[in-house]
Amino acid sequence: MALLIRNGEIVTVGSRVQADIYVENETITGIGKDLETPPNTEVIDASGKLVFPGFIDPHVHIYLPFMATFAKDTHETGSIAALIGGTTTYIEMCCPNRNDDAFEGYQLWKSKAEGKSACDYAFHMSVTKFVKETESQLRQIVADGTASFKIFLAYKNFFGVDDGEMYQTLELAKRLGVIVTAHCENAELVARLQQKLVAEGKTGPEWHEPSRPESVEAEGTGRFATFLENTGATGYVVHLSCEKALHAALGAKARGVKINVESVLPHFLLDKSYAERPGVEGMKHVMSPPLRAKHNQAALWNALAGGSIDTVGTDHCPFDTGQKLLGKDSFVNIPNGIPGIEDRVNLLFTHGMQRGRLDLDRFVDAASTRAAKLFGLYPRKGTIAVASDADLVVYDTNYRGVVSAKSHHVNNDYSGFEGMLIEGRPSVVTVRGKVQVRDGKFVGERGRGKMLKREPSHF
Ligand code: URP
Ligand code: ZN
Ligand code: ZN
Repeated sequence: MALLIRNGEIVTVGSRVQADIYVENETITGIGKDLETPPNTEVIDASGKLVFPGFIDPHVHIYLPFMATFAKDTHETGSIAALIGGTTTYIEMCCPNRNDDAFEGYQLWKSKAEGKSACDYAFHMSVTKFVKETESQLRQIVADGTASFKIFLAYKNFFGVDDGEMYQTLELAKRLGVIVTAHCENAELVARLQQKLVAEGKTGPEWHEPSRPESVEAEGTGRFATFLENTGATGYVVHLSCEKALHAALGAKARGVKINVESVLPHFLLDKSYAERPGVEGMKHVMSPPLRAKHNQAALWNALAGGSIDTVGTDHCPFDTGQKLLGKDSFVNIPNGIPGIEDRVNLLFTHGMQRGRLDLDRFVDAASTRAAKLFGLYPRKGTIAVASDADLVVYDTNYRGVVSAKSHHVNNDYSGFEGMLIEGRPSVVTVRGKVQVRDGKFVGERGRGKMLKREPSHF
């Protein structure tokens, strides 16, 4: 059936216009005032509401074997939570570890999503070692439509690569035109500082941040930038958390390095005092890079408003209370990660738009369009235009609610953002023209999501 979204205020980067959107066969085929309503058309009245392009989360973990356990969501649960929060596409980190075969890992990650996700999805392919078959495997993976890599400069002996492997990955990425995303910390320093703190009896979650201080992240960010500079590759720093690391990234950008920056929801809204809460309450807020001293948040918001932080992701990575307690005797064993896939758009709208920190243009860019452009999805995704996929979010700015694990759809027994107010939420969410969400409820088709094939574009 065709779909007509009537009389909403359509928001895209650089434009706001009151108009109708007509959708046939998954695609936007008309935008204009007072469009006709052909027979067999479902009409959605968007008067008084904003209409955004479907939001894109460029950094999620759904299937993730990590720190002696598995992240809690499946694509069935994670995609429904994403859609209820307005995210119509997510890019999952495909993370085989150093002992796994990369290509087998890629097939495994794909099999976990295929026919299960209710939203569209793509992958960043992690390169967790560089051995003789790596180049041919990565070429095959890129030919399969996965045109972005991921490296970890942390998690020594598990996901982490050394400088030689980073160089080889970037050098290949440059030849293939593939963007490389990177978790930037100094793995050696983290390992040494963890050992030192534990030996001093400092084992609670409050010691997680001091084991990975800002300088350790800034070093990783600066080193990644230097390697980009000397290979000519294009990079993307994931989950940047603090002013020092931002300074390293922006300094490199100013001298012409092709470096882009993502920060994630927890770092804008939560600070290290959350991880300093006693016992498991602190453990719930352990992620890496860690939650930082509060003063960093103003620097992140300012950089986001000015566009030097490109995107806002979640780094969605749910471990439940029982899993967090794996680290009850030492913070080193607390599974790292905070869930957020359902809350990103609403909390960014509330704390960005409603609090006057962001304008609408930057909001839609950071939460959708910029990721589409960087990761080869634009203009199929990330905008509202004739011939684009009809991924649309009719957004009610008058809605008022509260984030809570009692009502969320993420498969986890706590929310990192428990009790936070939201001022706005999607009233209708479509994926390729099909209504998947109405007023906080999933009403659509499970398994509708498609893997998005992407071409390399960073030559
Ligand atoms: O703490 C985090 N960020 N957990 C997920 C893995 C990663 O580093 O992205
Ligand atoms: Zn990471
Ligand atoms: Zn991550």
